[in-house]
Amino acid sequence: MSRLKDKVAFITGAASGIGLATAQRFAAEGAKVFGADLQESKDWGNIEKSASTSDFFTLDVTDEPAQNKIVDQITDQHGPIDIVVTAAGVAGGGFVHMMELAEWQRVIDINLTGTMLSAKACLKSMVENRSGSIITIASVEGLEGCEGGSSYNSSKGAVVLLTKNLACDYGRLGIRANAICPGFIQTPMFKAAIMEGMGEERAEPIKFQHKLNRWGKPEEIAGAALFFASEDSSFVTGVALPVDGGYVAGHQYGVAEMAGLV
Ligand SMILES: NC(=O)c1ccc[n+]([C@@H]2O[C@H](COP(=O)([O-])OP(=O)(O)OC[C@H]3O[C@@H](n4cnc5c(N)ncnc54)[C@H](O)[C@@H]3O)[C@@H](O)[C@H]2O)c1
Repeated sequence: MSRLKDKVAFITGAASGIGLATAQRFAAEGAKVFGADLQESKDWGNIEKSASTSDFFTLDVTDEPAQNKIVDQITDQHGPIDIVVTAAGVAGGGFVHMMELAEWQRVIDINLTGTMLSAKACLKSMVENRSGSIITIASVEGLEGCEGGSSYNSSKGAVVLLTKNLACDYGRLGIRANAICPGFIQTPMFKAAIMEGMGEERAEPIKFQHKLNRWGKPEEIAGAALFFASEDSSFVTGVALPVDGGYVAGHQYGVAEMAGLV
């Protein structure tokens, strides 16, 4: 299990959910793992046990100087960033005619501008090193609209296109950029926004939009991140990969039931 042996990985949103699961998977695959998050991580101790080298930083990804300082510190001590995973993000949305500008701005700032700033901070050493893998965490809600999505879907749709642009701009320098578009994944964000925000009963039909008829797990997103981080994806760039149990595969209209297939 050393597909990322000695690779230097910077992961934002690393205290929780998808970022944490990715940090754990990368550590198990031999990477030197550096996590950053707004909140402290009570689980980082497990990563320290399994990673050859690791560190955790408190960071607001919208704070450009602070983020640059952390990334510069990592590169000074451990060499260029090989992999960045931008998992820091917040839930959001609401109906536009009731939306406060400040709330719209908050979601765009963290999800989109924060992603751009993380990529920017890491690109400095990636460009010098002529190598790197940028992995953004967008969403199925960045690929299609949904009721009440507004600021969240806009931020994630823009992350998808930002990622494709990074692939266009830096491919010739040996740097790849790919977006992961998770379906609904059982993380603290999911619990707060979906299970508690909507209520379990109202959320249940969303589960069945996933053609596998279940919610996703953070480890299943970490697996896709490992693919994009490793040499297995050496000819893959500019992709927005749904990891969503078939959520965006298409629509179901009850035809299979009519035909007696289910
Ligand atoms: N859980 C899902 O269903 C789902 C689906 C699609 C996409 N996503 C995306 O995956 C990413 C990870 O989400 P998650 O589900 O693991 O949620 P999570 O809440 O468990 O983790 C998100 C982490 O981001 C951190 N964060 C928030 N704002 C920050 C900031 N300004 N600076 C630094 N860190 C900040 C939080 O403290 C938290 O630890 C997010 O971008 C989210 O939009 C999640």
